[in-house]
Amino acid sequence: MTIKEAIKERHSVRRYLDRPISGNVLKELESYIDAVRDESGLTMDLVLSDGRAFDTALAHYGHFSGVQNYIAISAPKGSDEDIGYFGEKIVLFAQTLGLNTCWVALTYSKAKVRTAKRKGVSVRIVIAVGYGAEDGKPHKSKDFSAVAKADGVMPAWFVDGVEAALLAPTAMNQQKFQFILVGNNSVKAVSKLGFWSKVDLGIVKQHFEIGAENENFTWA
Ligand SMILES: Cc1cc2nc3c(=O)[nH]c(=O)nc-3n(C[C@H](O)[C@H](O)[C@H](O)COP(=O)(O)O)c2cc1C
Repeated sequence: MTIKEAIKERHSVRRYLDRPISGNVLKELESYIDAVRDESGLTMDLVLSDGRAFDTALAHYGHFSGVQNYIAISAPKGSDEDIGYFGEKIVLFAQTLGLNTCWVALTYSKAKVRTAKRKGVSVRIVIAVGYGAEDGKPHKSKDFSAVAKADGVMPAWFVDGVEAALLAPTAMNQQKFQFILVGNNSVKAVSKLGFWSKVDLGIVKQHFEIGAENENFTWA
């Protein structure tokens, strides 16, 4: 599965099978997380076979079951866009490995996350990961015209980028972002005020780059 295919296949999954991540899949996931950790400077801990953070009333209320693994992302304040941008790289890579994921900002217990305590950084968000008991389903989406703006004709790469962004996960499916074509090959991405909307912005920029392909544009 390519990363572009992963964008289409990915949906948030909240129910997981009792099947550990092991062997080559685990090795590939770990080395990918290592690379993204180096690239981003973010603190990312892959927690395996420990469901305590999801064994809470909140998690059950959020319809989570069987979560045994997650990636905890810790960062200083002001890192939300990076968290989204780099975390979504891992989400999409995990999908190519046959794994499912769900970003989780609220419906888990932060106190039960098993990570080393570090100075100046605290857990900001987690990504549940594992073999899903289901594949999830496509989310309702805003219209293309609500999230894309251009003065003239939109080039194909811009359309592809926006379409990839519309498939991205956003907190409560709020999709509070907009892509604006500036001149011929520059793009401005903005997020409207909303719950976790800077993490969302990083996520949708990651999708846009994959859909539009980096050589076609620069960020304004
Ligand atoms: C930043 C962020 C935070 C999220 N937090 C939660 C959460 O606390 N609980 C939950 O059940 N889903 C959470 N989600 C998942 C969204 O509800 C989901 O991505 C959205 O409904 C779109 O569905 P999809 O991911 O299947 O495309 C979160 C997603 C994002 C991007």
